[in-house]
Amino acid sequence: MQLPLAIITILPLAAASPLLPSILRSLFLRDLNSTTQNDLVDGSPCKELTVIFARGTDSPGNVGSSTGPPFFEAIAALIGTDNIAVQGLDYPATIIGFLEGGDTAGGTLMANLTTRAMTQCPDTKVVVSGYSQGGQEVHMAAKQLSPAVAAQVSSVVIFGDPDNGTAVGTIDPSKVLIICHSDDYICKGSIIVDADHLNYANDAGTAAAFVVKAAGL
Ligand SMILES: *[C@@H]1O[C@H](CO)[C@@H](O)[C@H](O)[C@H]1NC(C)=O
Ligand SMILES: *[C@@H]1O[C@H](CO)[C@@H](O)[C@H](O)[C@H]1NC(C)=O
Ligand SMILES: *[C@@H]1O[C@H](CO)[C@@H](O)[C@H](O)[C@H]1NC(C)=O
Repeated sequence: MQLPLAIITILPLAAASPLLPSILRSLFLRDLNSTTQNDLVDGSPCKELTVIFARGTDSPGNVGSSTGPPFFEAIAALIGTDNIAVQGLDYPATIIGFLEGGDTAGGTLMANLTTRAMTQCPDTKVVVSGYSQGGQEVHMAAKQLSPAVAAQVSSVVIFGDPDNGTAVGTIDPSKVLIICHSDDYICKGSIIVDADHLNYANDAGTAAAFVVKAAGL
C-alpha cells in the first residue's frame, strides 16, 4: 500500500494524539515491540488471542522489553499480527514487590484484566503470562480467578518463575508452561539474578508454539 506523502508526514503526529481512534491505531501503528501494550483497555477490536502480560522487576512500560515483546512477535509470526491483542499489567514492579513475593494489588488487577478480556471479547483465547516478578503476579492472579474464568484460560506461560514448582492457582497443569533455565537461581527461590535469568527471549518461539497450540489456532 502506498500512502500519500501528506499522510506519511502526519502519521507520527497522529500516533501521539489521544484523539486518533483506537481502531486506526491498531490497524496502522501496531508495534508489538513497544514496551507498553494496552489493547484491552484502549478498546481496540477483539482478536483471536489475547495475552495479558506482567513484566519483570524494574522493566520499562507495562510489558518490559527483554521477554514480552519477543514472545508477542513470535506469536504474531505464527498467527499473524492482526490476530493478537496484548494487555500489559500496570503495576510498580519494584524490588520490594519481588522480595515480598509479588505485588498484591498487581495480582488483583491481573485477575481483573483476565476476567475482563473474557467478558469484553467472549471469543478470544486468553493467555496469562509473566516474566520474573511478573510470574509472581500470574500466580497471585490465578488464585483469585473464579472457577469458571480459571477453566476458560487458554494457557499460562511464565518465564523465570520465582514460584517455580508451585501450582498456578487451579489452572489445569496441562495448560501451563513454566520456562526456567537450569542455572536460573530465581527459579530456585534465590534472589540472585544471573545471565540465565536474562535471556528468556531465546524461548519466545517455544512459548509461542505452546500458546498457539493450546488455543487451537
Ligand atoms: C525492540 O525494542 C528494543 C528496545 O525496547 C530494541 O532494542 C530492539 O532493537 C527492538 N527490536 C526490533 C526488532 O525492532
Ligand atoms: C475490574 O476493575 C474495574 C475497575 O476497578 C471494576 O469496575 C470491575 O468490576 C472489575 N471487574 C472484575 C471482574 O473484577
Ligand atoms: C523448577 O521446578 C521444577 C519442579 O519442581 C524442578 O524440577 C526444576 O529443577 C526447577 N527449576 C530450577 C531451575 O530450579
